[in-house]
Amino acid sequence: MLRFRVALSAVVLTSIALASTAGAHVHAFKFGEMPDGQMVKVYTMKSNNGAYVEILTLGATLRKVEVPDKDGNVADVVFGFDNVADYLDADKNQYFGVVVGRYGNRIAGGKFSIDGEEYQLATNDGPNHLHGGGDQALSRQVWKAKRFESEDNTERGVKLWYVSPDGEENYPGEVTISVTYTLNDKNELRIDYEATTDKATVLNLTNHAYFNLRGAGSDTINDHEIMINADRYTPVDDTLITTGELAPVEGTPLDFREFHAIGERVDEMGEGEGAGYDHNFVLNREGAEQGELTVAAVLRDPKSGRQLTVKTDQPGIQFYGGNFLKGQEGKDGKTYAYRSGLCLETQIFPDSPNKQGEEGWPNAVLRPGETYRHVQEYDFGLVE
Ligand code: GLA
Repeated sequence: MLRFRVALSAVVLTSIALASTAGAHVHAFKFGEMPDGQMVKVYTMKSNNGAYVEILTLGATLRKVEVPDKDGNVADVVFGFDNVADYLDADKNQYFGVVVGRYGNRIAGGKFSIDGEEYQLATNDGPNHLHGGGDQALSRQVWKAKRFESEDNTERGVKLWYVSPDGEENYPGEVTISVTYTLNDKNELRIDYEATTDKATVLNLTNHAYFNLRGAGSDTINDHEIMINADRYTPVDDTLITTGELAPVEGTPLDFREFHAIGERVDEMGEGEGAGYDHNFVLNREGAEQGELTVAAVLRDPKSGRQLTVKTDQPGIQFYGGNFLKGQEGKDGKTYAYRSGLCLETQIFPDSPNKQGEEGWPNAVLRPGETYRHVQEYDFGLVE
């Protein structure tokens, strides 16, 4: 009997692979199963320029990005895991590559109100709400998915979608969300978010990939250099909640308007748990139209020669320097040491539901009849 089952699963796997092989550069395979038996699929895709990307239906997760270095050698530059159990392990998985939400980053006290109605979310990060809450957060849901490829085969990808029911993680409204990953032959990976709701709610989706351009599992990001296109940032209190100020970066270790090595001034950011770079930057977008992409940040690794340009239509970007990483084991036997990876999460500002309307603070509320749109683009290339 066992022999028959093994043979059958091999047939199923092959048929999934074969069904998706016909003329497409996007393939779908079984990655694993959720505790309730629901299948998690992995979508794999290649560019015609040396890039290879994997997307999981669990959490609409970016699991793998292999890109060439200056000598043409490819390496996987993002954090992830080899199995579903690790992705569901909240201690191990510090949001590696997932789409976070409904509200990415923090909401003070987990509280906000819309049109006079108060809502209380989970306080899953000290006294605050973080990244959509607990087991029902978007990063822990299995999304539906469909692969696609352009007629001229210059871009390909996968569209994922999920309907978050009214009251999921105590958020109001039934929200229909789509996330589309598109990889083109310039090795640009574009992520398009769209959502609608049947009741006023708050929404701030983003991808939480951790990068090390020398190769995921390399020991540090301190010698990566970064430029962040922002004259201001939003200071935080000791619970990492924004204070409401929009403060100049001038004269601070957060001034990345020119390239600086991440390790050059990080010690000036203080000590203790969570100390370091973990701030939302107010992007310089003067004159940009709504929906227009502008360069938010450029990250480069002098040693490998790899460069990552992040573009977005959002007002903010969170630069998080991996201050909570603790050597957990990830995919391909790699371990992810303290400050060995960083995130560049394009977003509206943390705690906007409680600060919108204040000077310079973006709106966080999505209403029926409106469409939430957000573009987060990771462009991989070589140091210019
Ligand atoms: C975001 C936050 C960090 C940390 C990570 C996840 O980047 O800004 O403080 O919580 O998520 O570990």
